[in-house]
Amino acid sequence: TRIFLSRDAASLAVGAERIGRLLAEEAARRGLALDTVRTGSRGMFWLEPLVEVETAEGRIAYGPLEAADIPGLFEAGFLQGAPHPRRLGRLEDHPFLARQSRLTFARCGLVDPLSLDDYLTHGGFQGLDRALALGPSGIVAEVRESGLRGRGGAGFPAGIKWDTVLHLEADQKYVVCNADEGDSGTYADRMLMEGDPFCLIEGMIIAGLAVGATKGFIYIRSEYPHAHRTVNRAIALAAQAGYLGPSVRGSGRAFTLETRLGAGAYICGEETALLESLEGRRGVVRAKPPLPALKGLFGKPTVVNNVLSFAAVPWILAHGAQAYAGFGMGQSRGTMPVQLAGNIRHAGLVEIGFGTTLRELVHGFGGGTATGRPVKAVQVGGPLGAYFPESMLDLPYDYEALAEAKGMLGHGGIVVFDDTVDLAQQARFAFAFCAAESCGKCTPCRIGAVRGVEIMDRIIAGTERERNFALLDDLCRLMTDASLCAMGGLTPVPVQSALTHFPDDFDKAPPLPA
Ligand code: NAI
Ligand code: SF4
Repeated sequence: TRIFLSRDAASLAVGAERIGRLLAEEAARRGLALDTVRTGSRGMFWLEPLVEVETAEGRIAYGPLEAADIPGLFEAGFLQGAPHPRRLGRLEDHPFLARQSRLTFARCGLVDPLSLDDYLTHGGFQGLDRALALGPSGIVAEVRESGLRGRGGAGFPAGIKWDTVLHLEADQKYVVCNADEGDSGTYADRMLMEGDPFCLIEGMIIAGLAVGATKGFIYIRSEYPHAHRTVNRAIALAAQAGYLGPSVRGSGRAFTLETRLGAGAYICGEETALLESLEGRRGVVRAKPPLPALKGLFGKPTVVNNVLSFAAVPWILAHGAQAYAGFGMGQSRGTMPVQLAGNIRHAGLVEIGFGTTLRELVHGFGGGTATGRPVKAVQVGGPLGAYFPESMLDLPYDYEALAEAKGMLGHGGIVVFDDTVDLAQQARFAFAFCAAESCGKCTPCRIGAVRGVEIMDRIIAGTERERNFALLDDLCRLMTDASLCAMGGLTPVPVQSALTHFPDDFDKAPPLPA
């Protein structure tokens, strides 16, 4: 019997490896043949470790599993999909998955990430075939018409970026993938790289063909050793099969790929610091202009996109720009892999068309807090994103709507907090995070973050309230206007949103004099 067990780092973290071993041992004891396929994750982390069994009715899932469940599973006949308290049925029918639109993540959790056969039987490389037929400007037009915007956070139209690079004359151009996923509560890049690495590779090959780049780099954060190994193996397999190399699929067009590991700096997710790091220097932000599209890696025209941006491209090419643009709302077209994290009952990945509400994501999919206490705040868009109160959860999940509410969609992270959170402490944390992660190049961020922590300490202690609030306001304005990059420039966002929506947390009475 074939069973499927995730090898995703999040599944391993909750014991998938041990469960796999115990299942194999128990099967051997009973003289049963078990063929275990290691997959990526379905992104339903509260159900991990999760095993799926291939049966006549499809894959039947059981989870979350503990070691003590294993003998009982065999007794019950789980290899035939029999009833058991842990039986979840077909995951496709589970409300968490059934309501999603999995385009980019269609294969994740289903296929063996390192099986080219699996990739091909699940629609892999169809986008590349179409891209080869379309040629460079045809590909760029398709990406532009799909409305795909950069999924790293800034939401810049990918087609316009590619068009810029396509139309430059240069002896060498590059494609660089930003896989330095540093936002707290985000893991979609990792999940994709561990669960469907060929999808990223295919997206990057298409980008290379589109803009005339022959070389690509994937910059992976060092905290992702599993993703790094999986992507390296996938690159080797793709090269062996002729998808990478001097003549992609016999087209005469060259494209090769290599990975590089980061060294633990959040700022290396900023594209120019990432390029510095790729070139072998310390990750310090470069002034823009020039944009990387014009002068990027080693001074050459470079497409820098996030993992999720590249990984959306194979589907777009295979199914057409219009099909992709059919999802979403307003200027936010297509789907977004939203990552639910923090104090939430159903932590996991929700790929869905833009326009659904935060409430649907946090309560409908997420099931509210894990502690069962009321939701007090959700931080949307990573550590530089805004904190929204429960009363604002009807906001649509859309780039423009969140920006209008003085927040941002960012890289798709949503971190949930219950009513025990203190937003003044979270505001302090925003400055502390910035102080720790600042590259130090510009003064508003390098010094401002440290001053911010000090001001917040005085506000929390209740000393000289008026003066310190005025200073805080002044500092936030300065950091927003004068920082060189988004690190310092967006740190005021969590601070000011906390202050606006949760003023009571900043209103601690000063301690009585002794
Ligand atoms: P940006 O708005 O300066 O640039 C966005 C992208 O568009 C860049 O690649 C830029 O080079 C490109 N671009 C802009 N104008 C262009 C033009 N005319 N032609 C061609 N390309 C052009 O934003 P930035 O500073 O790159 O990113 C900030 C965002 O990063 C934040 O909004 C935040 O959401 C996100 N972020 C993501 C993190 C993660 O872990 N994924 C971590 C921290 C922040
Ligand atoms: Fe560096 Fe901060 Fe200035 Fe960005 S804002 S360049 S991280 S010092």
